[in-house]
Amino acid sequence: MQVCRTVSDCRESLANYRRYGEIVGLVPTMGFLHAGHIELVNNAKSRADRVVVTIFVNPTQFGDASDLDAYPRDEARDLAMLKDAGVDLVLIPQVAEVYPDGDETIVETTRMANMLHGLVRPGHFRGVTTVVARLFNFVQPDLACFGEKDYQQLQIIKRMTRDLGFPIDIIGVPIVREPDGLAMSSRNVRLNAQDRAAALVISKSLEAAEALPEKTVTSLREIIAQTINAEPRATIRGLDIVEAETLNDLSGPLTSPAAIMLSVEFGGVLLLDQRVIHP
Ligand code: PAF
Repeated sequence: MQVCRTVSDCRESLANYRRYGEIVGLVPTMGFLHAGHIELVNNAKSRADRVVVTIFVNPTQFGDASDLDAYPRDEARDLAMLKDAGVDLVLIPQVAEVYPDGDETIVETTRMANMLHGLVRPGHFRGVTTVVARLFNFVQPDLACFGEKDYQQLQIIKRMTRDLGFPIDIIGVPIVREPDGLAMSSRNVRLNAQDRAAALVISKSLEAAEALPEKTVTSLREIIAQTINAEPRATIRGLDIVEAETLNDLSGPLTSPAAIMLSVEFGGVLLLDQRVIHP
């Protein structure tokens, strides 16, 4: 596995891959990897001849400097995991190369970035699209994998890719779940035993929504709220039901796929989950 710290370093290998007609898959990350990232790598491996992973803690997607400083980092562990997973090349660019002195170009999906989670984290998605566009230009992959768990991020990246005409297939990789249904997250280890057991109510509520015979926005919202509110340890922090592709508001009976985006708190730990429901 090759580790490059400058873009020019990795471009030579990328040119070689292309010379042999190899398909390049990209997995952008901010490091501190877990099983969900390895699932993205495995998905990219199943579609591409070469897999490139970027590790870059992107300053422009953090609200304040203390969040950025507090972001966990463990490069040695990340590299060992990526090597075990069979990654070909890891690009770890410097901030000064991603954001050259005096840069003034941003990329923003103007509507989708400023709704839902974008309202509570102003500027976050602008930072994500700006960095992902730059990483796409550095690596020029044929495809790139992102988790469906960050559903709004995935839809925004799909839209940006389409609008800017990047010839890149954006692959949404389904949430990896624990055997009992809880979405995998590095936050799960912060749950105490009772909250860990109670957290199963999230996936149960999504299953109950899926099983509803008559699916309207109101009936979906009710079944989810009822199921979760029946668990005293759970507090719903966000429950959005939106048109799956555009993230637009929905009302009435479902006539097109809807995304349910859920955030639920257990003892100070916020857990996310989502599911796309078909009419
Ligand atoms: O999902 C993430 O880890 C980040 O938002 C991404 C896509 C790597 C951009 O920094």
